[in-house]
Amino acid sequence: MRRKIIAGNWKMNLLLEEAIDLFEQLNVLKESKSRIIVFPSFLYLGSFYNKFQGIIEMGAQNCSQFDSGAYTGDVSSAMIKSIGVNNVLVGHSERRQYFGETNEILKVKLNRVFEQGLSPFFCCGETREIREKATHVHFVRTQILDSIGHLTPEQASQLVIAYEPVWAIGTGLNATAEEAQEMHASIRELIKERWGEEIALKIPILYGGSLKSSNALSLLTMPDIDGGLIGGASLKAEEFLSIITLANELV
Ligand code: PGA
Repeated sequence: MRRKIIAGNWKMNLLLEEAIDLFEQLNVLKESKSRIIVFPSFLYLGSFYNKFQGIIEMGAQNCSQFDSGAYTGDVSSAMIKSIGVNNVLVGHSERRQYFGETNEILKVKLNRVFEQGLSPFFCCGETREIREKATHVHFVRTQILDSIGHLTPEQASQLVIAYEPVWAIGTGLNATAEEAQEMHASIRELIKERWGEEIALKIPILYGGSLKSSNALSLLTMPDIDGGLIGGASLKAEEFLSIITLANELV
């Protein structure tokens, strides 16, 4: 049985005082059956990690595809590692859409992440146009194979995959539990074809896209949905805590 993962992607939200306030409200958790991870802004990551280390893990929202050197504004996987943080999002659709991150760039980023022994949360998902053409399964398979297909079985077994249909992100329109399950099952099948059944059964596949307390139960009870990567609803302590409570009742 895979442990559920509830992850909050804060994106470029919250000023320092607001972020501290939210973290303090979440930090009331003394134990959790599911894994909880928050991805705050880089600016707060180091100090939050030192201050709030505990039940809630922390992660970076991105990392550079470069090792080190003259890349103004970028943050390397080695820097993330050096502050003690282990988790990193790779290939969020907003990085793909607004920052030109291609499958090829993401492949290189994953290499940097694995060089440092970090744990990548690899994001994939189709746009509305692609879903309307009914080519979404093929599209997501290509995203995955192009960026992670080269990984060794040992590396692949450390992945967390997040399926986030772009049309559902921040729109209030979530994929139905059946739509999400169909894609998650197809991703797991792909992992099985590429690395074998043992790894396919081990890898957590999270759903993201307008996940909130009112739809969490139907999504999280699907057999191949192992948790959520949550944007908007992770910015409200009460909402995020109630999703965690629901997930904890399922494990
Ligand atoms: P959302 O974002 O929950 O606000 O739709 C999810 C994400 O982008 O990770």
